[in-house]
Amino acid sequence: MARIGILTGGGDCPGLNPVIRAVVRKALLAGYQIVGIKNGWKGLVQNDTMSLDINTVSGILPKGGTILGTSRTNPYKQEGDLQKVKDNFKKMGLDALVAVGGEDTLGVASKLFKDGLPVVGVPKTIDNDLSATDYTFGFDTALNVAMECIDRLHTTAESHHRIIVAEVMGRHAGWIAVEAGIAGGADVILIPEIPIDLDEVCKIIKQRHERGKTFSIVVVAEGAQFKDGSMVTQEQKLDAFGHVRLGGIGENLAGLIEKRTGFETRVSVLGHIQRGGSPTAFDRVLGTRFGVKAVELVIGKKFGQMVALSGNKIIDVPLSEAVKALKTVDDDLYDIAKVFFG
Ligand code: F6P
Repeated sequence: MARIGILTGGGDCPGLNPVIRAVVRKALLAGYQIVGIKNGWKGLVQNDTMSLDINTVSGILPKGGTILGTSRTNPYKQEGDLQKVKDNFKKMGLDALVAVGGEDTLGVASKLFKDGLPVVGVPKTIDNDLSATDYTFGFDTALNVAMECIDRLHTTAESHHRIIVAEVMGRHAGWIAVEAGIAGGADVILIPEIPIDLDEVCKIIKQRHERGKTFSIVVVAEGAQFKDGSMVTQEQKLDAFGHVRLGGIGENLAGLIEKRTGFETRVSVLGHIQRGGSPTAFDRVLGTRFGVKAVELVIGKKFGQMVALSGNKIIDVPLSEAVKALKTVDDDLYDIAKVFFG
């Protein structure tokens, strides 16, 4: 019986378990065996697996995170790991691999395909920054969490007549910031795609207060940076894919806004709360559709491809396309957000 392996890599997000469930259910229906590889690429390097059957995936649809575990292991980083991946792929008796991940995990999948492994990809990330798919699952849940937080910040900001800066995730793309900001009615939204003009931010806030408002909500993406500054990071250390840990821009910004405007300002960093918890219906359905399609690609031996959402259709695109460039916020959407500034 042919065997499919499945792994989830990179930062977890809501919707991974619906994908795992869909892959297992569809694979079993099609007469395949399925092997769960634990903790992303680390499990392939270390030959660490778990069995997956209809009972293992029962009840996981509403659960956040991933029952397989995850890691940020990059098998192309450490000498010898690539060979271990290839050897373990054989030892596990795999005929195909479904890799579920973002830019980094799928970047490895794309290279492995070029190195001869039969891999298909499934795009996940709360950042929604993958090219070649309109949406990744995980984004909708993170967005809704961020929106709810902004709603909550409104009531306390209004009661205390304060400015509150909400720092959201998203790495180098401003999707969570701009969409949560629009949905939550933020008064200023700052994204990595457009350098922060502090004079302009303070002008907008002051004008708003001049027309009688006594509070403001500023949403800032963790990757946003000042016109003349650099990215604010939590530490200098790079992970196996060369990323630094972002975070801290909210604190800097709040201090500067308070100093310049004289209005009492607080900061709230939403952090990993955005990544945790149960997936929204949209993410459950998208994850399920992606999982079923991934197995169809395996059945059709269409390796080196990634499942993707185009409009309302599930399609497949070359993995190399998906990881070629980051998908960032377009001017049209930011222009809509700007209509509501101040
Ligand atoms: O890529 C998803 C993401 O949540 C980013 O938005 C964020 O910058 C990063 O992961 C945080 O990573 P970690 O979980 O390693 O702190």
